Amino acid sequence: MNILQRIRLSVLPDKQDTENHKHGQRKNFRSFLLHFRPASVPERTLKLSLTWGLGGIAVVLVFLLFGSGLMLKFAYEPSPGKAYESIVYLNNQVPFGRLLRNIHRWSANGLLFVVFLHFLRVFYTGALTAPRQFNWIIGLTLFSAVLLSNFTGYLLPWDQLAYWAITISTSMLDYIPGVGSGLKEWILGGPEPGPKTLINFYAIHTAALPLLLLFFLPFHFWRIRKVNGLIIPRSPDEDPSVNGDMIDSMPHLIMREVSLAVIVIAVVLLAAMFFNAPLAEIANPGLSPNPTKAPWYFMGIQEILMHFHPVFALLVIPGLLLLGLLLIPYINYEANTTGIWFCSIKGRKMALIAVIFSTLATVTAVLFDEFFIVANQTGPANMVSNGLLPFTIVLAICVGFYMLIKRLFSATNNEAVQALFTLLISAFVVLTIIGVWFRGTGMQLMWGA
Ligand code: HEM
Repeated sequence: MNILQRIRLSVLPDKQDTENHKHGQRKNFRSFLLHFRPASVPERTLKLSLTWGLGGIAVVLVFLLFGSGLMLKFAYEPSPGKAYESIVYLNNQVPFGRLLRNIHRWSANGLLFVVFLHFLRVFYTGALTAPRQFNWIIGLTLFSAVLLSNFTGYLLPWDQLAYWAITISTSMLDYIPGVGSGLKEWILGGPEPGPKTLINFYAIHTAALPLLLLFFLPFHFWRIRKVNGLIIPRSPDEDPSVNGDMIDSMPHLIMREVSLAVIVIAVVLLAAMFFNAPLAEIANPGLSPNPTKAPWYFMGIQEILMHFHPVFALLVIPGLLLLGLLLIPYINYEANTTGIWFCSIKGRKMALIAVIFSTLATVTAVLFDEFFIVANQTGPANMVSNGLLPFTIVLAICVGFYMLIKRLFSATNNEAVQALFTLLISAFVVLTIIGVWFRGTGMQLMWGA
């Protein structure tokens, strides 16, 4: 064989070899994939109505965020003098710069929303009980990382929106007695957002949190493998020991995952083409917009702060909720309802009642506080009348609701805990909606603010 033939052969193997080569390549690809995915999975876990593809969508969004974020780093400059300019430059001068920024922004917001839905699906299908409890805790860590990534990224454009949203969010810390102001100054690198804050947030956003995600995501998936995959979905009257048939991951699982990824990328691209990420005027520390709102995912907390003494709004209530979320998988549940949406038919009804009751009660409480209590209050918020008293009332309502619904439906503790969880989550969602859409100038309640 002369040298030309040898070169040609190295690029295009002859026909006989092509067949072997293709076969070998396919085998190699399959064995490469099986390092990440199991060889076979229970057929029933492929049902869309189990996962709704939410975990998978979250993974695709994380990849999009890493990819687009990496490219944004080539244009962005993390100093107050340059940050805003670099975003304007990116938007107007860099080819596809605006698209890239939009992809990053919408993937980030989408991820937060999708992770919240995934968290709900895991809870309502009972996928948090043994042996999956620790994966729930890892999930909560991932949730926090996603939340903080959104928050730290929010400041980076250094526009009015970013500056004042971060100012209002971090100033909430001032209300925590003893450690609050110190903690705020530590996060901001000074008493108010400035050059140090931007560098802090930039480092956390582009290095610390991505590293955290890179560590905890594989940990999350490894825990799923360790318990032989996802929970098996079943109807309320089905025997929990029946797992059904196994099916090859390639093509059944992998093709579904690839299709999902293509759809998610297409949706994000379309959103990025038609909707621009907001950019207000350059940050002006001397001129606060009215109203000054935290980012939407913190509006629930900002709304709680409008009704409770800060110690309760920022410490007691979030602390207790977080503790509850950490402990919820470790409760000694009476029945094995893993894989059944909402535990049972009765569980569904109870959850629906919880949503309706919670929505009505939260809206009534907000209106009552706004128009009767705050309107007649003189002087600053008081620890007893604005803290202990309303908190005790809310606690009594929650305990009363739990006991009453359990007794009325002769429910198991699985169903009653689920109803209580639904009550609290719905209240938080309602508060967030009120904060985002119904608070206008001076943070007054307004119709369609
Ligand atoms: C960046 C955030 C997250 C990503 C990328 C992610 C990804 C995934 C994926 C791909 C799966 C398997 C498919 C599916 O269930 O859709 C999964 C399952 C699971 N996730 Fe997450 N997750 C995240 C956050 C969370 C959170 C916030 C929780 C709960 C607090 C959680 C708890 C779980 C549990 C317990 C499972 C196993 C479910 C089962 O066995 O059916 N994850 N996650």
